[in-house]
Amino acid sequence: MQAGSLHCIVGVFVSVLALVSLSLCLSLSLLTLQLSHPVRMRSLALGLFCLLCCNAVRLDGRRPRPIADPCKAMPLDFVFVIDSSRSIRPNDYEKVKAFIVNLLQFLKVGPDATRVGLLQYGSVVQPEFSLNTYTTKDRVEQAVRSMEHLATGTMTGLAIQYTMETAFTEEEGARPADLLIPRIAMVVTDGRPQDTVEEIAAQARQAGIQIFAIGVGRVDMNTLKAIGSEPHSEHVHLVANFSQIETLISVFQSKLCGEMCEVVDHQCQHICVSSPASYRCKCRKGYQLNVDLKTCDSNDALPYSSGTSLPSLLVTLTSYGHYLVTF
Ligand SMILES: *[C@@H]1O[C@H](CO)[C@@H](O)[C@H](O)[C@H]1NC(C)=O
Repeated sequence: MQAGSLHCIVGVFVSVLALVSLSLCLSLSLLTLQLSHPVRMRSLALGLFCLLCCNAVRLDGRRPRPIADPCKAMPLDFVFVIDSSRSIRPNDYEKVKAFIVNLLQFLKVGPDATRVGLLQYGSVVQPEFSLNTYTTKDRVEQAVRSMEHLATGTMTGLAIQYTMETAFTEEEGARPADLLIPRIAMVVTDGRPQDTVEEIAAQARQAGIQIFAIGVGRVDMNTLKAIGSEPHSEHVHLVANFSQIETLISVFQSKLCGEMCEVVDHQCQHICVSSPASYRCKCRKGYQLNVDLKTCDSNDALPYSSGTSLPSLLVTLTSYGHYLVTF
């Protein structure tokens, strides 16, 4: 189980324990006021012991701090695909690096948390580091800061092909598909590709890679849309210049940090289920989702028998911190 979720559960348990012992302490102290002397002494001793327990529990509760981490930070396999073409000026290249480093703050980097890989491309693809190269955020940051500008062509299609065929393989550190760790590629580009991207990007998305396409400057919006996943409003972003790229930080903060259900107006009639950068609506038992994917109608084929109680809700925490909601 993910450490964060474990801490959370422990935290809740400890809080409940602390509350129970606190109320016990209080009632005992109140009792002592009305009792005879020897009994009062014994109760007082018991109360003191109780208070000590309370403190021990509170101290224990102080160690795991789930709230200190502002991100819910689900584990991801995250690959940056960075355009390093000649048209990018040196100070713009530095801005791209700063953007990547800024995004890293929202990721919980680690072998069991989010794994980060990066490749840059010009006329060729240059892998900088794989998903299993670094195990800490500091090392990833160092590697990003020491990247060198290729200043050659713009083979975006080739880069996406490498991402799909190599970067997201288990040899390169991607976790097995059946673990359902979201595979995310973020393509940052400033120009028109010298090769075709439509087909290969579609293949990559088909293979389960969620692609964010970030265009800077005079990038053709249709090219970006051909790269990015649906819905495009979530995955495709175009900014005027490299100074503007930092305005995307807040956009990605909510995508990477938050539960989508909490940060968007989801309009789910019954239940909203978050996934990284996305969400879907669900209906309670006996109802089915309408074609608008938001509202629910009672399911006539499966009516409630009068004897059944309220729909039961079971939330299972899987080993990688996904919430499975079953009804
Ligand atoms: C970048 O674009 C913004 C918005 O269009 C503009 O205000 C700003 O002057 C531009 N900066 C540079 C360095 O071109």
